[in-house]
Amino acid sequence: MAIQWSGLGPELLLRLDRRGGQPLRSQLEEGLREAIRSGRLQGGERLPSSRELARELGISRGLVQECYSQLLSEGYLTSQIGSATRVAMGAHPPRPEPPPRPEPPPRLIADFRNGVPDLASFPRGDWIWATREACGSMANLDLDYGDPHGAAVLRTVLAGYLRRVRAASADPAQMIVSTGFAQGIVLVLRALAQAGARCAAFEDPGPGTADTSETVRAAGAIGLRTVHVPVDDLGIDVSALEDSGAQVVVVTPAHQSPTGVVLAARRRHALVDWANRNDGFIVEDDYDSEFRYDREPVGVLQGLAPDRVFTIGTASKALAPAVRLGWVLAPPSLAAAVAEEKRISDRGSSTLDQLVLAALLESGRYDRHLRRMRAIYAGRRTGLIAALARHAPRVRLTGLAAGFHAVAHLQAGADEQAVVTAARERRVGLYGMSSFRSARAAGPPRLVLGFGQVGERAIEPGIAAVADLLT
Ligand SMILES: Cc1ncc(COP(=O)(O)O)c(C=O)c1O
Repeated sequence: MAIQWSGLGPELLLRLDRRGGQPLRSQLEEGLREAIRSGRLQGGERLPSSRELARELGISRGLVQECYSQLLSEGYLTSQIGSATRVAMGAHPPRPEPPPRPEPPPRLIADFRNGVPDLASFPRGDWIWATREACGSMANLDLDYGDPHGAAVLRTVLAGYLRRVRAASADPAQMIVSTGFAQGIVLVLRALAQAGARCAAFEDPGPGTADTSETVRAAGAIGLRTVHVPVDDLGIDVSALEDSGAQVVVVTPAHQSPTGVVLAARRRHALVDWANRNDGFIVEDDYDSEFRYDREPVGVLQGLAPDRVFTIGTASKALAPAVRLGWVLAPPSLAAAVAEEKRISDRGSSTLDQLVLAALLESGRYDRHLRRMRAIYAGRRTGLIAALARHAPRVRLTGLAAGFHAVAHLQAGADEQAVVTAARERRVGLYGMSSFRSARAAGPPRLVLGFGQVGERAIEPGIAAVADLLT
Protein backbone atom coordinates (compact mmCIF):
# COMPACT_ATOMS: atom_id res chain seq x y z
CA MET A 1 0.00 0.00 0.00
CA ALA A 2 1.34 3.45 -0.91
CA ILE A 3 2.27 5.72 1.99
CA GLN A 4 -0.06 8.73 2.04
CA TRP A 5 2.42 11.12 3.68
CA SER A 6 -0.56 13.18 4.92
CA GLY A 7 0.79 16.54 3.85
CA LEU A 8 4.43 15.78 4.59
CA GLY A 9 6.80 15.49 1.67
CA PRO A 10 8.37 12.10 1.00
CA GLU A 11 12.08 11.86 0.39
CA LEU A 12 13.44 10.27 -2.74
CA LEU A 13 16.94 8.99 -3.34
CA LEU A 14 18.11 9.90 -6.86
CA ARG A 15 21.70 10.42 -7.90
CA LEU A 16 22.82 12.89 -10.54
CA ASP A 17 26.26 12.63 -12.06
CA ARG A 18 27.58 16.13 -12.60
CA ARG A 19 30.90 15.07 -14.05
CA GLY A 20 29.62 12.82 -16.87
CA GLY A 21 28.44 14.44 -20.05
CA GLN A 22 24.75 13.46 -19.76
CA PRO A 23 22.43 16.44 -19.23
CA LEU A 24 20.90 16.67 -15.75
CA ARG A 25 17.36 16.70 -17.11
CA SER A 26 17.72 13.42 -18.99
CA GLN A 27 19.46 11.86 -15.95
CA LEU A 28 16.55 12.88 -13.75
CA GLU A 29 13.94 11.61 -16.22
CA GLU A 30 15.79 8.32 -16.65
CA GLY A 31 16.25 7.97 -12.88
CA LEU A 32 12.53 8.44 -12.26
CA ARG A 33 11.50 6.10 -15.10
CA GLU A 34 13.87 3.45 -13.78
CA ALA A 35 12.58 3.84 -10.21
CA ILE A 36 9.00 3.34 -11.48
CA ARG A 37 9.82 0.46 -13.84
CA SER A 38 11.76 -1.42 -11.20
CA GLY A 39 8.94 -1.00 -8.70
CA ARG A 40 11.05 1.10 -6.34
CA LEU A 41 8.26 3.66 -6.72
CA GLN A 42 4.86 1.99 -6.67
CA GLY A 43 1.59 3.01 -8.34
CA GLY A 44 -0.17 5.67 -6.26
CA GLU A 45 2.99 6.74 -4.40
CA ARG A 46 3.47 10.43 -4.00
CA LEU A 47 6.51 12.22 -5.40
CA PRO A 48 8.23 15.11 -3.64
CA SER A 49 7.04 18.54 -4.76
CA SER A 50 9.14 20.05 -7.56
CA ARG A 51 10.41 22.62 -5.06
CA GLU A 52 11.57 19.97 -2.53
CA LEU A 53 13.17 17.74 -5.14
CA ALA A 54 14.95 20.69 -6.73
CA ARG A 55 16.31 21.69 -3.34
CA GLU A 56 17.43 18.15 -2.49
CA LEU A 57 19.21 17.67 -5.82
CA GLY A 58 20.59 21.20 -6.04
CA ILE A 59 18.98 21.91 -9.42
CA SER A 60 16.43 24.45 -10.61
CA ARG A 61 12.75 23.93 -9.89
CA GLY A 62 11.95 24.55 -13.57
CA LEU A 63 14.07 21.55 -14.54
CA VAL A 64 12.18 19.28 -12.17
CA GLN A 65 8.86 20.64 -13.46
CA GLU A 66 9.93 19.89 -17.03
CA CYS A 67 10.81 16.33 -16.06
CA TYR A 68 7.53 15.80 -14.26
CA SER A 69 5.52 17.05 -17.26
CA GLN A 70 7.48 14.80 -19.62
CA LEU A 71 6.73 11.76 -17.45
CA LEU A 72 3.10 12.87 -17.10
CA SER A 73 2.77 12.87 -20.86
CA GLU A 74 4.43 9.43 -21.04
CA GLY A 75 1.88 8.07 -18.56
CA TYR A 76 4.36 7.34 -15.75
CA LEU A 77 2.91 10.01 -13.46
CA THR A 78 -0.49 11.53 -12.77
CA SER A 79 -1.39 14.82 -11.25
CA GLN A 80 -4.58 16.64 -10.45
CA ILE A 81 -4.95 20.31 -9.80
CA GLY A 82 -4.35 21.04 -6.16
CA SER A 83 -2.90 17.64 -5.35
CA ALA A 84 0.55 16.07 -5.41
CA THR A 85 2.16 14.37 -8.39
CA ARG A 86 1.91 10.60 -8.01
CA VAL A 87 3.11 7.51 -9.79
CA ALA A 88 0.38 6.40 -12.20
CA MET A 89 -1.36 3.17 -11.29
CA GLY A 90 -0.11 0.40 -13.58
CA ALA A 91 2.91 2.46 -14.68
CA HIS A 92 5.32 -0.33 -13.86
CA PRO A 93 5.04 -3.95 -14.96
CA PRO A 94 2.64 -5.75 -12.68
CA ARG A 95 4.32 -7.80 -9.99
CA PRO A 96 3.90 -11.54 -10.26
CA GLU A 97 0.65 -12.63 -8.66
CA PRO A 98 1.25 -13.54 -5.02
CA PRO A 99 0.42 -17.15 -4.24
CA PRO A 100 -3.21 -17.52 -3.16
CA ARG A 101 -3.63 -16.95 0.53
CA PRO A 102 -4.48 -20.05 2.51
CA GLU A 103 -8.08 -20.10 3.66
CA PRO A 104 -8.29 -18.41 7.08
CA PRO A 105 -9.02 -20.98 9.78
CA PRO A 106 -12.70 -21.06 10.71
CA ARG A 107 -13.67 -18.72 13.54
CA LEU A 108 -13.63 -20.61 16.79
CA ILE A 109 -16.60 -20.72 19.14
CA ALA A 110 -14.07 -20.50 21.95
CA ASP A 111 -10.29 -20.61 21.99
CA PHE A 112 -8.82 -21.84 25.28
CA ARG A 113 -5.29 -20.90 24.26
CA ASN A 114 -2.97 -20.47 27.19
CA GLY A 115 -0.42 -17.76 27.87
CA VAL A 116 -1.94 -14.69 26.23
CA PRO A 117 -3.84 -12.11 28.29
CA ASP A 118 -7.01 -10.39 27.12
CA LEU A 119 -5.56 -8.22 24.37
CA ALA A 120 -8.84 -6.33 23.92
CA SER A 121 -8.49 -5.01 27.47
CA PHE A 122 -5.07 -3.43 26.97
CA PRO A 123 -5.34 0.00 28.65
CA ARG A 124 -4.82 2.02 25.47
CA GLY A 125 -6.00 5.27 27.03
CA ASP A 126 -3.64 4.91 29.99
CA TRP A 127 -0.75 4.03 27.68
CA ILE A 128 -1.41 7.15 25.57
CA TRP A 129 -1.61 9.25 28.74
CA ALA A 130 1.64 7.77 30.08
CA THR A 131 3.40 8.27 26.74
CA ARG A 132 2.51 11.98 26.82
CA GLU A 133 3.61 12.22 30.42
CA ALA A 134 6.93 10.49 29.72
CA CYS A 135 7.72 12.46 26.56
CA GLY A 136 6.76 15.74 28.20
CA SER A 137 8.83 15.27 31.30
CA MET A 138 11.93 13.45 30.09
CA ALA A 139 15.26 15.25 29.99
CA ASN A 140 17.31 15.47 26.79
CA LEU A 141 19.87 13.23 28.46
CA ASP A 142 17.26 10.48 28.73
CA LEU A 143 17.44 10.21 24.94
CA ASP A 144 21.09 9.15 25.05
CA TYR A 145 22.17 5.51 25.52
CA GLY A 146 21.01 4.67 29.01
CA ASP A 147 22.30 2.66 31.92
CA PRO A 148 22.19 -1.02 30.84
CA HIS A 149 20.48 -1.76 34.17
CA GLY A 150 17.53 0.25 32.86
CA ALA A 151 16.06 3.68 33.55
CA ALA A 152 16.63 4.62 37.20
CA VAL A 153 13.07 5.88 37.61
CA LEU A 154 11.55 2.60 36.38
CA ARG A 155 13.87 0.51 38.55
CA THR A 156 12.94 2.62 41.56
CA VAL A 157 9.19 2.33 41.04
CA LEU A 158 9.45 -1.37 40.15
CA ALA A 159 11.47 -2.08 43.27
CA GLY A 160 8.82 -0.28 45.34
CA TYR A 161 6.07 -2.20 43.54
CA LEU A 162 7.75 -5.57 44.13
CA ARG A 163 8.34 -4.78 47.81
CA ARG A 164 4.74 -3.68 48.24
CA VAL A 165 2.91 -6.31 46.19
CA ARG A 166 5.26 -9.31 46.12
CA ALA A 167 7.10 -8.93 49.46
CA ALA A 168 10.38 -8.91 47.56
CA SER A 169 13.64 -7.69 48.98
CA ALA A 170 14.09 -5.25 46.15
CA ASP A 171 16.76 -2.62 45.72
CA PRO A 172 16.86 -0.67 42.42
CA ALA A 173 20.60 -1.42 42.19
CA GLN A 174 19.75 -5.12 41.81
CA MET A 175 17.18 -4.60 39.06
CA ILE A 176 17.86 -5.01 35.38
CA VAL A 177 15.15 -4.11 32.89
CA SER A 178 14.90 -6.67 30.10
CA THR A 179 12.93 -7.38 26.95
CA GLY A 180 10.40 -9.54 28.76
CA PHE A 181 11.03 -12.82 30.50
CA ALA A 182 12.44 -14.22 27.26
CA GLN A 183 15.50 -12.00 27.45
CA GLY A 184 15.67 -11.87 31.25
CA ILE A 185 16.17 -15.65 31.51
CA VAL A 186 18.89 -15.63 28.86
CA LEU A 187 20.79 -12.83 30.62
CA VAL A 188 20.55 -14.65 33.94
CA LEU A 189 21.62 -18.03 32.54
CA ARG A 190 24.55 -16.39 30.73
CA ALA A 191 25.68 -14.64 33.91
CA LEU A 192 25.38 -17.92 35.83
CA ALA A 193 27.29 -19.86 33.17
CA GLN A 194 30.04 -17.23 33.36
CA ALA A 195 30.06 -17.71 37.12
CA GLY A 196 30.64 -21.46 36.66
CA ALA A 197 27.18 -23.07 36.43
CA ARG A 198 27.12 -26.09 34.13
CA CYS A 199 23.64 -27.56 34.42
CA ALA A 200 20.17 -25.96 34.57
CA ALA A 201 17.05 -27.78 35.72
CA PHE A 202 13.54 -27.08 34.44
CA GLU A 203 10.18 -28.12 35.79
CA ASP A 204 8.43 -31.09 34.16
CA PRO A 205 5.79 -30.38 32.99
CA GLY A 206 7.16 -26.93 32.39
CA PRO A 207 8.53 -25.11 29.41
CA GLY A 208 8.89 -28.40 27.47
CA THR A 209 11.95 -29.61 25.61
CA ALA A 210 14.48 -27.90 23.37
CA ASP A 211 12.09 -28.73 20.50
CA THR A 212 9.15 -26.95 22.09
CA SER A 213 10.74 -24.32 24.33
CA GLU A 214 12.90 -21.35 23.41
CA THR A 215 14.09 -21.12 27.01
CA VAL A 216 15.40 -24.68 27.13
CA ARG A 217 16.99 -24.24 23.71
CA ALA A 218 18.61 -20.98 24.83
CA ALA A 219 20.06 -22.69 27.91
CA GLY A 220 21.59 -25.35 25.66
CA ALA A 221 23.00 -22.71 23.31
CA ILE A 222 24.68 -21.02 26.28
CA GLY A 223 26.45 -24.32 26.92
CA LEU A 224 24.41 -25.47 29.91
CA ARG A 225 23.33 -29.07 30.22
CA THR A 226 19.57 -29.15 30.74
CA VAL A 227 17.63 -31.58 32.91
CA HIS A 228 13.95 -31.95 33.77
CA VAL A 229 12.69 -32.34 37.32
CA PRO A 230 9.16 -33.64 37.99
CA VAL A 231 6.42 -31.46 39.43
CA ASP A 232 3.74 -33.03 41.65
CA ASP A 233 0.77 -31.65 43.57
CA LEU A 234 3.07 -29.66 45.86
CA GLY A 235 5.25 -28.21 43.11
CA ILE A 236 8.77 -29.16 42.06
CA ASP A 237 10.17 -32.35 43.59
CA VAL A 238 13.19 -31.02 45.50
CA SER A 239 14.69 -34.44 46.19
CA ALA A 240 14.72 -35.17 42.47
CA LEU A 241 16.40 -31.79 42.01
CA GLU A 242 19.06 -32.82 44.53
CA ASP A 243 19.77 -35.92 42.44
CA SER A 244 19.87 -34.03 39.14
CA GLY A 245 23.29 -32.44 39.67
CA ALA A 246 21.99 -29.02 38.54
CA GLN A 247 23.39 -25.80 39.97
CA VAL A 248 20.49 -23.71 38.66
CA VAL A 249 16.76 -24.35 38.69
CA VAL A 250 14.07 -22.39 36.86
CA VAL A 251 10.73 -22.50 38.67
CA THR A 252 7.24 -20.92 38.63
CA PRO A 253 6.39 -21.05 42.36
CA ALA A 254 3.35 -18.75 42.49
CA HIS A 255 1.38 -20.62 39.81
CA GLN A 256 3.30 -23.44 38.21
CA SER A 257 3.33 -23.24 34.45
CA PRO A 258 1.40 -25.17 33.22
CA THR A 259 -0.05 -27.29 36.09
CA GLY A 260 -1.16 -24.25 38.10
CA VAL A 261 0.11 -25.82 41.36
CA VAL A 262 1.26 -23.37 44.03
CA LEU A 263 4.64 -24.37 45.49
CA ALA A 264 3.87 -25.67 48.99
CA ALA A 265 5.45 -23.84 51.96
CA ARG A 266 7.65 -26.78 52.92
CA ARG A 267 8.87 -27.16 49.35
CA ARG A 268 9.69 -23.43 49.23
CA HIS A 269 11.90 -23.89 52.25
CA ALA A 270 13.40 -27.12 50.89
CA LEU A 271 14.23 -25.36 47.63
CA VAL A 272 15.98 -22.49 49.37
CA ASP A 273 17.79 -25.01 51.54
CA TRP A 274 18.92 -26.87 48.37
CA ALA A 275 20.33 -23.62 46.96
CA ASN A 276 22.16 -22.76 50.19
CA ARG A 277 23.71 -26.20 50.57
CA ASN A 278 24.75 -26.59 46.95
CA ASP A 279 25.85 -23.05 46.18
CA GLY A 280 22.95 -23.18 43.73
CA PHE A 281 20.68 -20.51 42.29
CA ILE A 282 16.92 -20.41 41.85
CA VAL A 283 15.44 -18.50 38.94
CA GLU A 284 11.87 -17.61 39.82
CA ASP A 285 9.55 -16.88 36.89
CA ASP A 286 6.90 -14.67 38.50
CA TYR A 287 4.86 -14.39 35.32
CA ASP A 288 1.19 -14.19 36.32
CA SER A 289 1.03 -13.83 40.09
CA GLU A 290 -0.74 -10.44 39.83
CA PHE A 291 -3.91 -12.40 39.20
CA ARG A 292 -4.68 -14.46 42.24
CA TYR A 293 -8.08 -15.47 43.48
CA ASP A 294 -9.14 -17.38 46.53
CA ARG A 295 -5.89 -18.08 48.33
CA GLU A 296 -3.72 -16.22 50.73
CA PRO A 297 -1.24 -14.06 48.85
CA VAL A 298 2.18 -15.67 48.70
CA GLY A 299 5.24 -13.48 48.26
CA VAL A 300 8.08 -14.19 45.91
CA LEU A 301 10.67 -16.81 46.86
CA GLN A 302 13.26 -14.08 46.44
CA GLY A 303 12.02 -12.52 49.69
CA LEU A 304 13.16 -15.68 51.52
CA ALA A 305 16.66 -15.81 50.02
CA PRO A 306 17.67 -12.66 48.15
CA ASP A 307 21.24 -13.95 47.78
CA ARG A 308 20.17 -17.14 46.05
CA VAL A 309 17.09 -16.21 44.01
CA PHE A 310 16.65 -14.28 40.79
CA THR A 311 13.07 -13.14 40.28
CA ILE A 312 12.02 -12.37 36.74
CA GLY A 313 8.82 -10.44 36.12
CA THR A 314 7.12 -9.34 32.93
CA ALA A 315 4.54 -6.87 31.67
CA SER A 316 3.35 -9.47 29.14
CA LYS A 317 0.55 -10.85 31.30
CA ALA A 318 -0.45 -7.71 33.18
CA LEU A 319 -0.49 -5.51 30.05
CA ALA A 320 0.32 -7.30 26.78
CA PRO A 321 3.20 -9.26 25.22
CA ALA A 322 3.73 -6.41 22.73
CA VAL A 323 5.06 -4.18 25.52
CA ARG A 324 8.21 -6.36 25.60
CA LEU A 325 9.35 -5.18 29.02
CA GLY A 326 10.36 -7.34 31.93
CA TRP A 327 12.67 -7.10 34.89
CA VAL A 328 15.23 -9.19 36.70
CA LEU A 329 15.73 -8.79 40.42
CA ALA A 330 19.18 -10.34 40.89
CA PRO A 331 21.18 -11.39 43.95
CA PRO A 332 23.54 -8.49 44.84
CA SER A 333 26.59 -10.59 43.91
CA LEU A 334 25.37 -11.15 40.34
CA ALA A 335 23.43 -7.98 39.46
CA ALA A 336 26.41 -6.35 37.74
CA ALA A 337 27.07 -9.52 35.72
CA VAL A 338 23.46 -9.58 34.49
CA ALA A 339 23.63 -5.87 33.59
CA GLU A 340 26.82 -6.55 31.65
CA GLU A 341 25.06 -9.30 29.68
CA LYS A 342 22.29 -6.81 28.96
CA ARG A 343 24.80 -4.24 27.75
CA ILE A 344 26.45 -6.76 25.43
CA SER A 345 23.10 -7.98 24.19
CA ASP A 346 21.46 -4.67 23.18
CA ARG A 347 22.86 -1.73 25.22
CA GLY A 348 19.63 -1.47 27.18
CA SER A 349 15.90 -1.53 26.57
CA SER A 350 14.10 1.45 25.04
CA THR A 351 14.23 4.26 27.62
CA LEU A 352 11.09 5.78 26.12
CA ASP A 353 9.06 2.62 26.79
CA GLN A 354 10.58 2.27 30.25
CA LEU A 355 9.54 5.79 31.18
CA VAL A 356 6.02 5.09 29.94
CA LEU A 357 5.78 2.00 32.15
CA ALA A 358 7.21 3.98 35.07
CA ALA A 359 4.52 6.66 34.59
CA LEU A 360 1.81 3.98 34.56
CA LEU A 361 3.12 2.47 37.78
CA GLU A 362 3.72 5.77 39.55
CA SER A 363 0.30 7.15 38.69
CA GLY A 364 -1.53 4.12 40.09
CA ARG A 365 -3.03 3.38 36.66
CA TYR A 366 -1.16 0.06 36.51
CA ASP A 367 -2.74 -1.07 39.79
CA ARG A 368 -6.15 0.13 38.62
CA HIS A 369 -5.77 -1.88 35.40
CA LEU A 370 -4.79 -4.97 37.39
CA ARG A 371 -7.86 -4.61 39.61
CA ARG A 372 -10.05 -4.40 36.52
CA MET A 373 -8.40 -7.42 34.89
CA ARG A 374 -8.61 -9.46 38.07
CA ALA A 375 -12.39 -8.96 38.05
CA ILE A 376 -12.61 -9.91 34.36
CA TYR A 377 -10.53 -13.08 34.76
CA ALA A 378 -12.35 -14.00 37.98
CA GLY A 379 -15.63 -13.86 36.01
CA ARG A 380 -14.23 -16.14 33.31
CA ARG A 381 -12.77 -18.52 35.87
CA THR A 382 -16.17 -18.83 37.57
CA GLY A 383 -17.78 -19.30 34.15
CA LEU A 384 -15.36 -22.11 33.31
CA ILE A 385 -15.96 -23.91 36.60
CA ALA A 386 -19.73 -23.60 36.13
CA ALA A 387 -19.66 -24.72 32.48
CA LEU A 388 -17.64 -27.83 33.28
CA ALA A 389 -19.82 -28.63 36.29
CA ARG A 390 -22.88 -28.41 34.06
CA HIS A 391 -21.69 -30.12 30.89
CA ALA A 392 -18.81 -32.38 31.95
CA PRO A 393 -19.11 -32.92 35.71
CA ARG A 394 -16.63 -35.81 35.72
CA VAL A 395 -13.81 -33.54 34.61
CA ARG A 396 -11.68 -32.32 37.49
CA LEU A 397 -10.33 -28.80 37.20
CA THR A 398 -7.18 -27.79 39.07
CA GLY A 399 -4.58 -25.04 39.05
CA LEU A 400 -7.07 -22.21 39.48
CA ALA A 401 -5.37 -20.37 42.32
CA ALA A 402 -3.92 -17.63 40.11
CA GLY A 403 -3.30 -16.51 36.55
CA PHE A 404 -5.62 -17.18 33.66
CA HIS A 405 -5.31 -20.84 32.93
CA ALA A 406 -6.42 -24.05 34.60
CA VAL A 407 -5.91 -27.75 34.02
CA ALA A 408 -8.69 -30.17 33.07
CA HIS A 409 -8.07 -33.80 33.99
CA LEU A 410 -9.40 -36.15 31.31
CA GLN A 411 -10.47 -39.69 32.13
CA ALA A 412 -7.64 -42.21 32.44
CA GLY A 413 -6.93 -43.73 29.05
CA ALA A 414 -8.31 -40.76 27.09
CA ASP A 415 -6.29 -39.78 24.04
CA GLU A 416 -5.28 -36.17 24.67
CA GLN A 417 -4.32 -35.44 21.07
CA ALA A 418 -7.49 -37.03 19.67
CA VAL A 419 -9.58 -34.79 21.97
CA VAL A 420 -7.68 -31.71 20.80
CA THR A 421 -8.16 -32.66 17.13
CA ALA A 422 -11.85 -33.50 17.48
CA ALA A 423 -12.48 -30.26 19.38
CA ARG A 424 -10.86 -28.27 16.56
CA GLU A 425 -13.29 -29.86 14.10
CA ARG A 426 -16.08 -28.50 16.30
CA ARG A 427 -14.41 -25.07 16.26
CA VAL A 428 -13.15 -25.14 19.84
CA GLY A 429 -9.45 -24.52 20.56
CA LEU A 430 -8.19 -26.99 23.18
CA TYR A 431 -4.53 -27.59 24.05
CA GLY A 432 -2.94 -30.69 25.54
CA MET A 433 -0.45 -30.88 28.38
CA SER A 434 1.94 -33.11 26.41
CA SER A 435 3.77 -30.26 24.67
CA PHE A 436 4.81 -29.00 28.12
CA ARG A 437 6.34 -32.31 29.12
CA SER A 438 9.86 -33.56 28.62
CA ALA A 439 10.26 -36.33 26.09
CA ARG A 440 10.61 -38.89 28.87
CA ALA A 441 7.54 -37.97 30.85
CA ALA A 442 4.34 -39.48 29.51
CA GLY A 443 1.76 -38.21 31.97
CA PRO A 444 -1.98 -38.63 32.37
CA PRO A 445 -4.17 -36.96 29.70
CA ARG A 446 -4.77 -33.32 30.59
CA LEU A 447 -5.77 -30.08 28.91
CA VAL A 448 -4.38 -26.65 29.72
CA LEU A 449 -7.38 -24.35 29.50
CA GLY A 450 -6.45 -20.69 29.10
CA PHE A 451 -9.12 -18.06 29.66
CA GLY A 452 -7.14 -14.95 28.79
CA GLN A 453 -8.40 -14.82 25.25
CA VAL A 454 -11.88 -16.32 25.59
CA GLY A 455 -14.72 -13.96 26.47
CA GLU A 456 -16.99 -14.90 29.38
CA ARG A 457 -19.94 -15.46 27.07
CA ALA A 458 -18.03 -17.87 24.81
CA ILE A 459 -16.99 -20.20 27.64
CA GLU A 460 -20.30 -21.98 28.17
CA PRO A 461 -21.02 -22.71 24.44
CA GLY A 462 -17.39 -23.68 23.95
CA ILE A 463 -17.44 -26.25 26.74
CA ALA A 464 -20.92 -27.46 25.75
CA ALA A 465 -19.67 -28.14 22.20
CA VAL A 466 -16.90 -30.49 23.40
CA ALA A 467 -18.40 -31.86 26.62
CA ASP A 468 -18.82 -35.42 25.30
CA LEU A 469 -15.13 -35.48 24.27
CA LEU A 470 -14.02 -34.59 27.76
CA THR A 471 -15.86 -37.29 29.69
C1 LIG B 1 5.82 -19.41 31.96
C2 LIG B 1 5.94 -18.11 31.27
N1 LIG B 1 6.75 -17.17 31.78
C3 LIG B 1 6.89 -15.96 31.20
C4 LIG B 1 6.22 -15.65 30.05
C5 LIG B 1 6.36 -14.27 29.47
O1 LIG B 1 7.38 -14.16 28.57
P1 LIG B 1 7.73 -12.71 27.98
O2 LIG B 1 7.88 -11.79 29.14
O3 LIG B 1 9.02 -12.89 27.24
O4 LIG B 1 6.62 -12.30 27.09
C6 LIG B 1 5.40 -16.60 29.46
C7 LIG B 1 4.69 -16.28 28.20
O5 LIG B 1 3.83 -16.97 27.73
C8 LIG B 1 5.25 -17.85 30.09
O6 LIG B 1 4.43 -18.79 29.59
